[in-house]
Amino acid sequence: MSFTPAPWPRRLRSREWFEGSQKDQIYHRSWMKNQGLPADLFDGRPVIGICNTWSELTPCNAHLRDLAERVKHGIYEAGGLPLEFPVFSPGESSLRPTAMLYRNLCAMDVEEALRANPLDGVVLLAGCDKTTPALLMGAASVDMPAIVVSGGPMLNGWFQGERVGSGTALWQMSEAVKAGEMSNDEFLDAEQAMSRSPGSCNTMGTASTMASMAEALGMALSGNAAIPAVDSRRRVMAHLTGRRIVDMVKDDLKPSDILTKEAFENAIRVNGAIGGSTNAVIHLLAIAGRAEIDLSLDDWDRLGRDIPTIVNLMPSGKYLMEEFFYAGGLPVVIKRLGESGHLHRDALTVSGGTVWEEVKEVRNWNEDVIVPVEKALTESGGIAVLKGNLAPDGAVLKPSAATEKLMVHRGRAVVFEDIDDYKARIADPDLDVDENCILVMKNCGPRGYPGMAEVGNMGLPPKILKTGVKDMIRISDARMSGTAYGTVILHTAPEAARGGPLAIVQDGDVIEVDVPKRRLHLDISDEEMNRRLADWKTAAKRPAGGWEMLYHDHVEGAERGADLDFLRGRRGRAVGRESH
Ligand code: FES
Repeated sequence: MSFTPAPWPRRLRSREWFEGSQKDQIYHRSWMKNQGLPADLFDGRPVIGICNTWSELTPCNAHLRDLAERVKHGIYEAGGLPLEFPVFSPGESSLRPTAMLYRNLCAMDVEEALRANPLDGVVLLAGCDKTTPALLMGAASVDMPAIVVSGGPMLNGWFQGERVGSGTALWQMSEAVKAGEMSNDEFLDAEQAMSRSPGSCNTMGTASTMASMAEALGMALSGNAAIPAVDSRRRVMAHLTGRRIVDMVKDDLKPSDILTKEAFENAIRVNGAIGGSTNAVIHLLAIAGRAEIDLSLDDWDRLGRDIPTIVNLMPSGKYLMEEFFYAGGLPVVIKRLGESGHLHRDALTVSGGTVWEEVKEVRNWNEDVIVPVEKALTESGGIAVLKGNLAPDGAVLKPSAATEKLMVHRGRAVVFEDIDDYKARIADPDLDVDENCILVMKNCGPRGYPGMAEVGNMGLPPKILKTGVKDMIRISDARMSGTAYGTVILHTAPEAARGGPLAIVQDGDVIEVDVPKRRLHLDISDEEMNRRLADWKTAAKRPAGGWEMLYHDHVEGAERGADLDFLRGRRGRAVGRESH
């Protein structure tokens, strides 16, 4: 893509606040100066916001204050004025009912903070799952120069001589305890080993996937995604990003220049190659909605089909993000896609150059971590989008995390009306279930939960686990953690709480799953389907007020990214009127 930088010098938007000798300008400058800022910092240089999702309640981002200081060094060096500000930080590990309920709230916060303040550009400091998409969504709607710095993953965890992958090990150990293969004391001992340093999840979970998506979209400097949080090169990355944003402002290089359809297509293919999280589907659809790019589930299925997964990381593979970084990280993967004809090589990035220029010289330093195509973890690593009478608007499955023999399967449905029903009955020894059944859970979609929690990877019934069976097909309108695995069909749309066909599945119905044919079929007649749908009444209650009510009333379906309907699109950086 060709990009023509704007002429420099020119008057920046921050001058609306800081240039002049009238009451308003004195007011704006004077209060800023109480922070000890010399007068010449208000001389027309770029004012750069550092949008920080630091929070001790978001442990994955708890080191971002330090990283912000490194960004400031770079901004000052390049002749800008850095001003750091906090936004709501949706932390995955503690927020209830689910962090996803608050992704859009964070995105609103970012958008309004960027537009309302005297900023010319912004560095987006993100890490934990929802923080990366939320910041990109807000920045895309404002469309001022923006660049991502990720917090970076935690170091490898180790326990009893084995790697401990964030999340993935939790699910595995939990199942092992239920199956009687691990003691609860051992499980408790493993707790500290799971999180041994600052940083985000060290698996190719949603946080690492979204950091990779930011880099693949061209919204972060090359190499940003994989550097461990505590590696000194993470600080270097922050420093260099601070320098770069100042030049981006001078050139007026905006998200709308970078977030093109080609950029999203590159990101979708990268997601297939890394075995990335199913959550990337929802987040990229939402970011595309903000950037006014026509992206759909069909694009995900079309673009991912012929992409082999070549990154051998948990949950699909063996290693963790630390080893991915040592092997060369995401640039190696992007280069491989470029060599195989699966990359829009001339897509623009925040560097001002093309994505190909960034990666063409890199080398793979460990072919067991980033494997050759002939040793791919799966030949079709993309997200499979299934459709049929059970999911007219689509459902997704991650083949690289699934069991091959379940890819074509007919099974009897064992139905749970919601997460509470599932929790109440899954361990019941009298539950009428066998390993060929299909577990179905309803009312866990964006409106139903509300917030679309990561509960789609329902644990198997203990009596099945005790027989040694590790996987069964599970279907829901929920999401699953990017660190999870299994033959799990997610994001079924329309969701049950909107009266989608999932709502009328009954115990004993037969469901057909055919992943190669992308089919998800409830084996009942059209007449029976229509009769049940006509009888259906929602069980979902409208929240009484507050954010949850706004979310319930305006959240879109998973197939559109679960953004709020009134937040789609770009609204620009112009402020309506002065406040004083
Ligand atoms: Fe925050 Fe995984 S819980 S990155």
